[in-house]
Amino acid sequence: MTAAIKIAPSILSADFGALAREVADATEASADYIHVDVMDGHFVPNLTIGPVVLEAVRRATALPLDVHLMISTPARYVEAFAAAGADIIGIHVEADPDASSTLTRIRQLGKRASITLSPETSTEAIEPLLDSVDQVLVMSVNPGFGGQKFLPQAYGKIERLRKIVDARGLPIEIEVDGGISEANAREVASAGADVLVAGAAIFGHPDLRARIELLRKAASAGKAAAAAAPRHA
Ligand code: DX5
Ligand code: ZN
Repeated sequence: MTAAIKIAPSILSADFGALAREVADATEASADYIHVDVMDGHFVPNLTIGPVVLEAVRRATALPLDVHLMISTPARYVEAFAAAGADIIGIHVEADPDASSTLTRIRQLGKRASITLSPETSTEAIEPLLDSVDQVLVMSVNPGFGGQKFLPQAYGKIERLRKIVDARGLPIEIEVDGGISEANAREVASAGADVLVAGAAIFGHPDLRARIELLRKAASAGKAAAAAAPRHA
């Protein structure tokens, strides 16, 4: 609970015509991870990027690449994204009837495994998988598009997962994705998040460092408050 909060800019809101520069700028601006949203037009209505583009992102930064697969049957693609340079590979529990095997495969590939849950999915769906993951990604918008409004039902899930992870002493990062801004970063961190993903709140602004620092400052205050008075104590 005392580790610094991490900020993971989502390149979904970056200028794809200048992607390498945007990734380098976010790196220079003190990002902790680069968050990469992969969408297949099937699990979600939108289509974004594949392994070829991930390779280009890999060349633009030394930061961990946090790859969020919003695709059906993700097991088909984990090797390709691992080879393209992913460090963390996340799959949606709703997209994979055998998530446990896919997560194990991700770890066998030497990558960190992440399980993601959409807003309509309860934490019970992923609790049996916690021994197989290095990260849990709580979606706070419906997956598919950047720039949406944060859904407050995420708070209860973050708190519940924080409680379980701490009680079991699991080495798992809790990441929250969707609608994060300086208006809610403190509360999200206070609920128990370790990593905040943010797209619209970071990219498209002239000073990426200032945007990241704003989020980090708000989140750090929330995390310190939670450490001083844990909600589930
Ligand atoms: C949504 C993506 C998010 C998105 C976040 O499906 O998973 O990573 O890019 O963007 P903002 O921060 O703009 O909600
Ligand atoms: Zn994402």
